[in-house]
Amino acid sequence: MSHILAIDQGTTSSRAILFDADLKITAVAQEEFEQHYPDSGWVEHDCSDLWSTTAATCRAVMEKAGLGPSDIAGIGITNQRETTLVWDRKTGQPIHNAIVWQDRRTSEFCKKLKADGHEETVTQKTGLLLDPYFSATKVAWILDQVEGARDRAEAGELAFGTVDTWLIWKMTGGREHVTDATNAARTMLYDISKGCWSSTMCKMLGIPMSMLPEVKDCAADFGMARADLFGAEIPILGVAGDQQAATIGQACFRPGMFKSTYGTGCFALLNTGDELVRSNNRLLTTIAYQLDGKRTYALEGSIFIAGAVVQWLRDGLQIIRDAKQTQPLAESADESQELTLVPAFTGLGAPYWNAECRGAVFGLTRNSGPAEFARAALESVGFQTRDLLEAMHADWSGADDTALRVDGGMSASDWAMQFLADITDAPVDRPEVLETTAMGAAWLAGQRAGIYPVMEEFAKGWKLERTFEPKMADDMRNRRYKAWKRAVAAAQDY
Ligand code: G3P
Repeated sequence: MSHILAIDQGTTSSRAILFDADLKITAVAQEEFEQHYPDSGWVEHDCSDLWSTTAATCRAVMEKAGLGPSDIAGIGITNQRETTLVWDRKTGQPIHNAIVWQDRRTSEFCKKLKADGHEETVTQKTGLLLDPYFSATKVAWILDQVEGARDRAEAGELAFGTVDTWLIWKMTGGREHVTDATNAARTMLYDISKGCWSSTMCKMLGIPMSMLPEVKDCAADFGMARADLFGAEIPILGVAGDQQAATIGQACFRPGMFKSTYGTGCFALLNTGDELVRSNNRLLTTIAYQLDGKRTYALEGSIFIAGAVVQWLRDGLQIIRDAKQTQPLAESADESQELTLVPAFTGLGAPYWNAECRGAVFGLTRNSGPAEFARAALESVGFQTRDLLEAMHADWSGADDTALRVDGGMSASDWAMQFLADITDAPVDRPEVLETTAMGAAWLAGQRAGIYPVMEEFAKGWKLERTFEPKMADDMRNRRYKAWKRAVAAAQDY
């Protein structure tokens, strides 16, 4: 019983990571799965892909490490948040593809709810904004569009879940319909100050409360994974949405500490302790983690396109073959050109929240080429992060002077992290272990299983790899950031 199996079910791939008794990674397995784009702004996943790639990577990682079920003390799950699934309780069959967090199909519905004056209630109850990003309007869409779904939901025949809930349902053979407080907090149906599902929100959206899973702490007994999956039952002991798991993995346990994760999107979370801080700058208030029944809150800034802009360079523009080529290409860009790219491919997230805005590029010359585009792409992530940090500082005086802790794929780029420090005029700390999301999930399960240290000890184990100190001259920084603000305004006007 010396290992923890962490599952990281993300937007583009499922991963399984084994951690040993010292919280060191022993093996990793990963599988990508297909993205479905049935219409403009629509993004779906096949629910069975989410499950089959998860199960396959779990088996593969155990085989790789030569471990059996008796070596695993528990499973920790972390997942892409907000993505919405509805299935039949009896058959376990989904009634629609999973609607992914990026999907904008409910933007008209959100606009109508806003026009009807509902946004204040939404923010008051859930800490969120009326945006298609969250699960609730996606559930309502499924109930409205799938024939007979509403009647079946009202008769108690259907279950709703975010990805964690679906995976646990599958792992336990339909015995458990559960989630954790961090995932619940992203549905737009959860009252984050009371810590329970909100009947007001369910009524507003026409969602029967019988569809909702039971909500638990992040470290709790979530059920036993079926014996036929791994050869013996394994307890599921930890669950957190991926950005919250990264906050834990980055050991941002003190109010005032913040982290920023660069995956498909970029998500910055600022720990505000037991204070539920309401944003005046269109950030989200959310639950960072819930342990022993105690909620710790966070302010969150969510950007939809970060790593995805590099994917666009590779798959859309085809100017790189591999993400790793972005940095050397950006370094070779002509210094005298200042291209500004607004990567609003699926609208703009915090602090603008403009679902209709689309991308734009400014400052093109005859000499603008792949290198300048690569640099503008990396810079766009820095500019967007500065937007978030400015909003956080404006919202809460408790945001302290500690460096921003970064992780996720793009944080491996020295160039991008130096630009981030430069444009935010603040130090950026990169940890030795960049697998912070999986580590957060592993720690939740491992301390529940009694093999990992308590929070304070775990925090001491966080190791710095490198600090990026700001080097850019003030006038350059101000000029570049002003150009970014002008570019975002123009893109929204277009
Ligand atoms: O809120 C969406 C977020 O949880 C997705 O994260 O890492 O799959 O892009 P990621």
